[in-house]
Amino acid sequence: MSPSLEQYKKYQLTFGPSPITHFPNLSKALGGKVNIYAKREDVNSGLAFGGNKLRKLEYIVPEILDGGYDTLVSIGGIQSNQTRMVAAVAAKLGLGCHLVQENWVPIPEQESLNYDKVGNIELSRIMGADVRLNAAGFDIGIRDSWKDALKALEAEGKKPYPIPAGCSEHKYGGLGFVGFVDEVLQQEKELGVKFDKIVVCAVTGSTMAGIVVGFAKYGRHHDVIGIDASFTPAKTKQQVLRIARSTGSLVGLDVELTLDDIYLDERFAHPCYGIPNEGTIEAIKLCGSTEGCLTDPVYEGKSMQGLIYKVRNDEFEKGANVLYCHLGGAPVLSAYSSYF
Ligand SMILES: Cc1ncc(COP(=O)(O)O)c(C=O)c1O
Repeated sequence: MSPSLEQYKKYQLTFGPSPITHFPNLSKALGGKVNIYAKREDVNSGLAFGGNKLRKLEYIVPEILDGGYDTLVSIGGIQSNQTRMVAAVAAKLGLGCHLVQENWVPIPEQESLNYDKVGNIELSRIMGADVRLNAAGFDIGIRDSWKDALKALEAEGKKPYPIPAGCSEHKYGGLGFVGFVDEVLQQEKELGVKFDKIVVCAVTGSTMAGIVVGFAKYGRHHDVIGIDASFTPAKTKQQVLRIARSTGSLVGLDVELTLDDIYLDERFAHPCYGIPNEGTIEAIKLCGSTEGCLTDPVYEGKSMQGLIYKVRNDEFEKGANVLYCHLGGAPVLSAYSSYF
């Protein structure tokens, strides 16, 4: 039998299939040129406001439980969504949680007082995680600070389980978003809509990688448009490809993916990871004020900005159905109040 997603154990952390909502007001505000829909990973769970990491963690948790690990260790920036989600899962499973929060963002002066106190980091502390601030800068790869944390916990007699940034370097990190695509295909049938283009934010890469693999099974991977929010797009693109290939082999994909199969739009991540530009803020306000839907200045505001820019500049065919993947992240907003 060829390998498939079904052969991997899954621990349910989400409510089930995330809803797809229509955005008619945003579509109209952009001239009615396309029909915008959103698949709502931002409301996919009752765990700490949900988000894309839960879908990835659903395929990682079985190994944690089977292996008898007692402490989850993860890493991200000070306002990381990943670490908030790992804190929530640890709390739910009754495990310890150790979080390394690095200095990934050149924090604007006006936010410096509260940046390490409000938003995601506040929520992780509430959920009982041991939050450790670390001065290291932005990088999507495996970090020394994180390896050191693992060693220290082992020296204390703990059995720590490492979950890398964005779950992306984890061998099962891409599986969750293969399943996301199966949901989209089912929802296309139910809604009677075929999505011509799929827009998704990419940084550590496993979300987009899973989506590319999921659509590649049906020859539709060239409809996936990644919007870079890392500002190190060459690294992100390589990482998406690498994870897509490894995930593809886990689920028996018979398509040889190359860099040409990964479309990553680099135009919206400026001025750097974690800092919005004028277009990001305009996009967050437009989506919020037309649809009552919140996006954040680090990730989803940038992919929303990319979507809006592409509609305004006729980069989609007229009448196209465009699916925006809303990956969560709004809990960070209070750390960026000066922008609003
Ligand atoms: C809200 C949100 N959107 C998008 C992303 C990017 O996803 P990935 O890291 O899988 O590329 C992340 C995490 O990094 C995120 O937290």
